[in-house]
Amino acid sequence: MKFPQFSMLPFLMVVVMLSLSGTTLSHPHWDFLHCLSLRLANYSTISKVIYVQNNPSYSSVLNASIHNTRFSTPATPKPFAIITPLKTSHVRSTLYCSKKHGFQLRIRSGGHDVEGLSFVSEVPFVILDLLNFRAIKVDTKNEVAWVQSGATLGELYYAIAAKTNTLAFPAGMCHTVGAGGHFSGGGYGTLFRKYGLAADNIIDARMIDVNGRILDRKSMGEDVFWAIRGGGGNTFGIVLAWKIKLVPVPAVVTVFTVNKNLEQNATKIFHRWQYIAHKLPDDLFMNVWITKVNSSQVGMKTVQATFRGMLLGGVDELITLIQDKFPELGLAEENCNEMSWIESVLYFGGLPLQSVDILLDKNALPTLSLKAKSDYVKEPIPESGIEGLMSMFLEEEADNAVAMIPAFGGKMDDIPENELPYPHRAGNLFEATYIVQWTKEENAESGKYISWSRRLYSYMTPYVSKSPREAYVNYRDLDIGINNINDYTSYEQASIWGFKYFKNNFKRLVQVKTKVDPMNFFRNEQSIPPLLSP
Ligand code: FDA
Repeated sequence: MKFPQFSMLPFLMVVVMLSLSGTTLSHPHWDFLHCLSLRLANYSTISKVIYVQNNPSYSSVLNASIHNTRFSTPATPKPFAIITPLKTSHVRSTLYCSKKHGFQLRIRSGGHDVEGLSFVSEVPFVILDLLNFRAIKVDTKNEVAWVQSGATLGELYYAIAAKTNTLAFPAGMCHTVGAGGHFSGGGYGTLFRKYGLAADNIIDARMIDVNGRILDRKSMGEDVFWAIRGGGGNTFGIVLAWKIKLVPVPAVVTVFTVNKNLEQNATKIFHRWQYIAHKLPDDLFMNVWITKVNSSQVGMKTVQATFRGMLLGGVDELITLIQDKFPELGLAEENCNEMSWIESVLYFGGLPLQSVDILLDKNALPTLSLKAKSDYVKEPIPESGIEGLMSMFLEEEADNAVAMIPAFGGKMDDIPENELPYPHRAGNLFEATYIVQWTKEENAESGKYISWSRRLYSYMTPYVSKSPREAYVNYRDLDIGINNINDYTSYEQASIWGFKYFKNNFKRLVQVKTKVDPMNFFRNEQSIPPLLSP
C-alpha cells in the first residue's frame, strides 16, 4: 500500500497539542502519532480524529461507548489513543500506522462486547472507534439497505421505519448495540424464527483487509464473505458497511407478556414450554426471562418467569394459537397489545412506548457492570433441574441477574450448520444467556457476582449441549478459553473455545484467517488464530 507524503506541519501541531495537554510519550507513541498526523494532513482533521490520553475529550470519547462498567475502572487498561475516523482514508491510515509501529488495534462499533474486547487490551493498543461511520441508506423499492458499522440497531430500525411500516430487519433487541460487532457474531432478535439471524440476511459488505485494500463481496471472495458473517469481530478485517436484505412484516403485530412466579406454577409452565415453543409457527417469537422479584408476601422474594413474545399477526390469531397449543400459559387479551413492528422494538428494548425518537438516544438506558455466559439446550430440562435453576435466582448475588431464554426452531431449523460460521441451528430447543449485573459502585465486589455466574453455569452442565458445550460468540465469555495475549496460539489451544462457538466451522474459519491475515494483526483474546502464525 502506498501513502502520499505530507508536510511536517500537522505533526508539529499535534506536538503542540500534546505538550499543552501535558501528555508524556515514549518513542512508539510519537512514531505512531507522527505517522498518523502526516497522513491526516491538517490540524482541523487531527483535532477531530485523534484523542490521546490527557486530551480533554479523551475520557468522554472512551466512555461514550462503554456498555459494561466492569471495564470502566481506573485499573482498566486504557488505549494510548482513540481514533475516530471521518472517512475511509482515515481508517486505512490508522491501520497502516498501528501495523507499522506495533500497536494492537481494537475496532469498536457499538461497544457492547460483554468482555470489553473492543476497548480493552493488555498490550499497548489504540481504539479505532467507528462512531462517525453511522450512515444508513434504505432502499424500499429493492428491499435492501446499506448500514455503516458504527450505526446502532436503534438507528437502523428507525431509518427503516421512517420509510415504511411493512419492512424490517431481523437483528437484536437492544437498541444501542452496534451493527459492526453484532453482525460479525450472528445477531438474533424477535424475527429470527421467521427470517434467521442478522448475518443470514447480509448480502454484501465493504471491508478493509490487513493490507489496506478496500474489498466488497466479489473482491473478498465467498470464503471471506462467509467468515465475516458470524466468525467474530476484530479477526478478518475492518468491516466498514454491510448491505442487508430487508424482510416483510405486517403493518400490525401483536406483543404479549405473561408473568408467572414460583407460587403461580412458573416451574411447571416453563417445563411444559420447552416441549412446545420450538414447534410453534415461525411467525411467533417467544422468550422466557427468569429473574428474582418481590413476592406478594411482604419482605419476601420469589422467582418469576416472564413469557414475552410477538406474533406477526393480530391478537385474535395469537390467542387462538396459544390457547390451542399452550393453554397452560393462560394468555388473555389483557396480556396482549397490537402495534407496529417499530413500536415492538421499543417494547422488547425496555423503552417507553412513546416516541420512536428514543431509538436514536444511546443513553436512554442505564449502563451497569455485567458478566454473561451462554448455553444451548437440546433436551427438555426435567422439572427438578428447573427447580434448582430457580432456586439459584433466590441467592443474594442474583438481585440483578437474568436468564434470557428464546425458543429456537422455525427458520433456524432450516439453515444448515455450515451455511455461516454460527452453527447452532436445528436440534436446539432454546438458547440460554445468563447475565449477572451489578452497579459500577459495586465493582470492588465483582468477584462474588462473577463466581455466582460460574456456579450457575456449572449447575447447568447436565442439562445443556455437550461435546462441545456450545456457546454464542456474541455473548463472549473468556472463561471458556483464551488465546495467548502476546504469543502464538496453536490451533489446538484455540479449539477449546473455538469449537464451542463455531463447532466444525472453526476449521474453515482458521483456514480463512490463515489466508487473509497470516501474521495475525487483527487479534484479541478470542479471535481466530491463523495456522503457523509467528
Ligand atoms: P463492539 O463494538 O464492542 O464490538 C464487538 C466485537 O466486534 C469486538 O471484538 C470488536 O472489536 C468487533 N468489531 C466491532 N466493529 C467491528 C467492525 N466494524 N469490523 C470488525 N470487527 C468489529 N446479541 C444478540 O444477538 N441479540 C440481542 O438482542 C442482544 N442484546 C444485547 C444487549 C446488551 C445490553 C448487550 C451488552 C449485548 C447484547 N447482545 C445481543 C450481544 C451483542 O450482539 C454483541 O455484544 C455484539 O458483538 C455487540 O456489537 P457492538 O458493535 O455493539 O460491540
